[in-house]
Amino acid sequence: MEKTIAIIPGDGIGPEIMAQTLQVLDIVGRRFGHTFRYEEAPMGGNAYERCGEPLPQSSVDTCLGSDSVLLAAIGGPQWDHLPAEKRPEAGLLGLRRALGVFANIRPARLYPELAEACPLKPEIADQGIDFVVVRELIGGAYFGEHKSGLVNGVETASDLMAYSEHEVERIARVAFDLARQRQSRVCSVDKANVLASSRLWRKVVSRVAEDYTDVTLNHMYVDNCAMQIIRAPGQFDVILTENLFGDILSDEASMIVGSIGLIPSLSRGASTLALYEPIHGSAPDIAGQDTANPLAMIRAAAMMLQYSLDMAEEGRAIEQAVSDALRLGLRTADIAGGGPAIGCRAMGEKIRTLLAV
Ligand code: IPM
Ligand code: MG
Repeated sequence: MEKTIAIIPGDGIGPEIMAQTLQVLDIVGRRFGHTFRYEEAPMGGNAYERCGEPLPQSSVDTCLGSDSVLLAAIGGPQWDHLPAEKRPEAGLLGLRRALGVFANIRPARLYPELAEACPLKPEIADQGIDFVVVRELIGGAYFGEHKSGLVNGVETASDLMAYSEHEVERIARVAFDLARQRQSRVCSVDKANVLASSRLWRKVVSRVAEDYTDVTLNHMYVDNCAMQIIRAPGQFDVILTENLFGDILSDEASMIVGSIGLIPSLSRGASTLALYEPIHGSAPDIAGQDTANPLAMIRAAAMMLQYSLDMAEEGRAIEQAVSDALRLGLRTADIAGGGPAIGCRAMGEKIRTLLAV
């Protein structure tokens, strides 16, 4: 097969982890007889430096014209002073909206090989951690009206958290469909004791559940959920939640499975075009030092092969190489617990060697 993949290396450690990932894909192509064509789409701070915009229209077009989109990470302190619409994050949010990817799927699974990197007590970790956060991605406070200015002479700012019935319904269906392929349990997370948008959320999710009588639904307040993820993560199968809550809970989830450097994510909408990215950021503090963990990015590519490019076996081969590398004791600094660590390039190289056999 021949596939065109839009590549967004981004900022900070982005280009380093992307370089390792593309080389992994090339090995997969060689082993399984596929050709991957890469088309670079600048986005983020680097795009702002080059063309004054964090998301040039040409990059959106490149993504829309490709079979799939791979994104590393964007952002950095050097762009903090920019107005909101020029910041790297505006590029990312604009891309998510331009591609219409309303569903963000973030798995949190503890590799047995990494049990010692889990910060929870062994008796909690031993119960197993294997759940998925389904985060609404193009609504809520991220995309509501942002206002700042003087109100009665006092500097004031506000962000509108709004959801429509239709927006809740379509993401709820993604979560219920996914639950059917897993343990058939959805935990819908909201703040319905305080927020009107959450009360609508709960009402719509409950109604959608009537179409999925084989799936068990429970509702949980977000503050309680944050606590339960630490107290008893084994209780979760699919966590369904809105944009901002999902942003926060997915970082928490990544921490309990050892490292944010390990978790890939998939974002998709109504079309077949999906966006794959690690859930971590651009880590500007370690950029250019060859210490970043490329595994979340490499696993994002594996996810892309499985879910977008009809290459399930190829994706599993990458996942297998990642498990093997961890079992062999190979660790980047973030998961080494102070022990011996290898760099980003060496980890990428190891994955390729394991794949080439
Ligand atoms: C994420 C990130 C982004 C988000 C940032 C970079 C805008 O934290 O993908 O989780 O908040 O969605
Ligand atoms: Mg986040």
